[in-house]
Amino acid sequence: MDDIRNIVILTGAGISAESGLATFRGPDGLWEGHRVEDVCTPEALARDAALVHRFYDERRAKLAEVGPNAAHEALAALDAQWPGELLIVTQNVDDLHERAGAKRLIHMHGELRSALCAGCGKARRWTDALPPGSVCDGCGRALLRPDIVFFGEMPYEMDVIDEALRRADLFVSVGTSGAVYPAAGFVQTARHVGARTLELNLVPSAGSFYFEESRMGPASMLVPELVSELLG
Ligand code: APR
Repeated sequence: MDDIRNIVILTGAGISAESGLATFRGPDGLWEGHRVEDVCTPEALARDAALVHRFYDERRAKLAEVGPNAAHEALAALDAQWPGELLIVTQNVDDLHERAGAKRLIHMHGELRSALCAGCGKARRWTDALPPGSVCDGCGRALLRPDIVFFGEMPYEMDVIDEALRRADLFVSVGTSGAVYPAAGFVQTARHVGARTLELNLVPSAGSFYFEESRMGPASMLVPELVSELLG
């Protein structure tokens, strides 16, 4: 790993599983008992705002009961000590990376502890329940919604992510099933620019064959091992 300077790390639900947060694609295909399209689409919000808000209120409340694990902590240490460029791109809406201390971080799918104005687009920190019908204090007109990128919406900061991928020498994917684009395609961009590609996951992901190297096991073990290798 001596020739590595610029690193992009993509994380998914698997990195937070050992903290006690459920992954999306469990064996029953449901997310905490719900079909994704009933809680995670603009249509669902328009059809049944109470259900969608309640669902994310429950996820937000659960977040207060859990904390970062050894994998989040190792990535925060890497962030603090890595002298080259580094970007952690998480698909997770929990805040366990930042609670571990990570700074160079993008939440491409939004954040549970944030509320978004559906009208003016202003986001603000939100740690309690978000009652449906809450009006934005910025524009004073439109309704607040969970600051979550629903299916069919554009993930955040794709331009910054794309630039970082194009400069990357190493791309690492941790705890994601590789089922959801555009994140699932990052490995192909990384390969295209000649970066080394490494997957850390409990089982091979849908895009496993795109990676030069795959290591299988729990993130709390594999991520600290990788960080030790990188920091020497
Ligand atoms: N260590 C490493 N990997 C793990 C662990 C663990 N302890 N536990 C589970 N995994 C792996 C699973 O094997 C699976 O491959 O993490 C992956 C989690 O996959 P998903 O549940 O599909 O989560 P993710 O890939 O983050 O989902 C992507 O889908 O619903 C949307 O927007 C949502 O951001 C989410 C996106």
